[in-house]
Amino acid sequence: MKMRVSLLAFCCTALAAPADWFPPSNLMTIGVYYYPEAWPEAQWPRDMANIRKLGMEFVHMGEFAWYFMEPEEGKYQLDWLEKNVDLAAANGLKVILCTPSATPPIWLTRKHPEILMVDSTGRTMNHGGREQADWSAPLYREYVTRIDTALAKRFGHNPKVWGWQLDNEVSHYDKQYSYSPAATQRFREWLRRKYGAIDRLNTDWGGRFWSLMYQNFDQIDLPNLLEHPGDPSPHALLDLDRWFAEEAADYLRMQTGILRKYGTPCIEARTPCAGQWITTNFMAMHGDVDPTLSARDLDAFTWTHYPVHGDLFPEEGPLGFRLGSGAIQGFMHDFMRPINGISGLMELQPGQVNWGVVNPWPLPGAIHMWIMRAFGAGARLVCTYRYRQPLFGSEEYHKGLVETDGVTPSPGGREYAEAMRDVLQLRGRYRAGQQPPADYAARRTAFLIDFSNRWDIQNHKQTARWDTIGHWMKYYRALKSMMAPVDVVTEDRDLTSYPFVVAPAYQLVDQELVKKLTTYAENGGNLVLTCRTGEKDRRGQLWEALWAEPIYGLIGAKIPFYDLLPPPVEGHVTADGKPYAWGAWGEVLEAQAGTTVLATYSDQFYAGKAAAVTRKLGKGSVTYIGVDSETGDLEMALLRKVYAGVSPASLRPDFLVDWRDGFWVATNFTSTSQPVPAKAGTPMLIGAKDVPPGGVAVWQ
Ligand code: GAL
Repeated sequence: MKMRVSLLAFCCTALAAPADWFPPSNLMTIGVYYYPEAWPEAQWPRDMANIRKLGMEFVHMGEFAWYFMEPEEGKYQLDWLEKNVDLAAANGLKVILCTPSATPPIWLTRKHPEILMVDSTGRTMNHGGREQADWSAPLYREYVTRIDTALAKRFGHNPKVWGWQLDNEVSHYDKQYSYSPAATQRFREWLRRKYGAIDRLNTDWGGRFWSLMYQNFDQIDLPNLLEHPGDPSPHALLDLDRWFAEEAADYLRMQTGILRKYGTPCIEARTPCAGQWITTNFMAMHGDVDPTLSARDLDAFTWTHYPVHGDLFPEEGPLGFRLGSGAIQGFMHDFMRPINGISGLMELQPGQVNWGVVNPWPLPGAIHMWIMRAFGAGARLVCTYRYRQPLFGSEEYHKGLVETDGVTPSPGGREYAEAMRDVLQLRGRYRAGQQPPADYAARRTAFLIDFSNRWDIQNHKQTARWDTIGHWMKYYRALKSMMAPVDVVTEDRDLTSYPFVVAPAYQLVDQELVKKLTTYAENGGNLVLTCRTGEKDRRGQLWEALWAEPIYGLIGAKIPFYDLLPPPVEGHVTADGKPYAWGAWGEVLEAQAGTTVLATYSDQFYAGKAAAVTRKLGKGSVTYIGVDSETGDLEMALLRKVYAGVSPASLRPDFLVDWRDGFWVATNFTSTSQPVPAKAGTPMLIGAKDVPPGGVAVWQ
């Protein structure tokens, strides 16, 4: 392995950590949401004191409280909030405040219905829920600016306020896009900026197909599937997705700008910074909003996660529905952390939720495990939603850290307290400057994603059997079973410090990217590409060349065609004499001289042809896996070959083991006990050497 393995890029201590916000020696901190406006003032002191007694170190307030902050236009009432900030501080709790923009007050909605979003049926949303506003509406942005300014002026210099969360899960949930006149206007402006001249848009959107030509930008509406008997242009859909994500990022940028203007800005002088940090709570794997677009705007990257909500997660065994998906949880941590090194969970389930189709209990211990998983994955904070279970409102059945009496710790509350005690214990053993073990670092992997690939594939799936996230997870699970530390990154990153790069289903490419990946491998990197890669250019158009031809030189093979099988038909490939089933996507490859075949099709009219190949390229290697197996077993077997030189572990998938700040952290999302991969005689700081389902072990 000739590559420089940069230990600096490992999570946590070595990054430019703003010492004042998240001191490395604190490792991770745990806190909770509290909604003072929902409870009698007489209970505030008791609740704050009890939050601290549970061990929590910070409290999160102000989210959704716009009406209580500004009951009438321009009349700000923030005393109640300041009282709670003071109470929190008096109890030794740090405070995260929120901008309330997810819940505009009734006076605003009734006065200016044009601030409301319009769904794809043309129906204007109404007061009575949340996320009903349209952040493309200039007037809504003005009102948000005013309330944010009032908050920033009041609290922006208050040392008791530690940080800020913007909005809530920026999105329109399942309504997806707003089709309001304001959104249409913003989309047109975005297109005008992007293309300059309408002819360019017509070319890139393929206007010569079905006479879809436009004469000017004002003729363009947001593509709406409900309005097209025939499929709309996939290029228009891709631009809609790109615009929407950029619009969300722009809205967040607008809000950070206000807080930084009137408060104590930090991002310019990141290390150290005594000011307040800013984040938003992104949704895990949601896909409409791309957190990486906010990389330069936010100080921390936090996300919301409710692992148990009625899904079965059969890959985790019969307890999957009580444990959640280890792969999804791990992947999201590994995605959010590398954005700037400061990440964490802003919402983590404290017990049963109210919104699943069925809402089971998490397995006893699982909540504690999720918190410790966050720790192992490098998170700086974990915040749980919420302290008190609401007695009214649409989330009545949602558990909190205390029972409905408001004081008795719930089972989840006790698991949060236990996790906090664990963190305190580990803080006592923290030593600065720990470096990851060399064999672990040697498996360091960049997992390359681009939301545009995900969107374009979704808009043009070709087979109902294809699942992009499922495809990613097959590779991610395989990587984690080998105990590879993974950073999920975008292609603007410098990849040279990663011995391995895995880029699954990377559909949209250009010559520059192909060159970057070629140079990466030539210089000693090991590159893994998978089916659906390189099919199109960045606009989503096919190449006027052979199928996916721009990557032939890189992968050392041709891809004459691909096949898709209707369910329940299964095809098979053979690798090292073992059969593997596939159904979603199978590319037939033609290896060029110097390229080795790793797997071949064993049935269909192309039996005997290659399905996966590998080759040396300069000092490195390129492996191309052209088939998507049914269970991920083929991906697992082939990746093990690629990692053969760096002593890959053989953990049961979703028994996740990571190294952080000198600690090994094992979390078991499987339904059976798993032995820790520690040397005999190693004492466990937390847990035991046999980790039960939903269990944790930590050792040094
Ligand atoms: C989240 C949301 C929270 C709360 C929670 C309930 O998605 O951000 O505000 O509604 O779900 O589980």
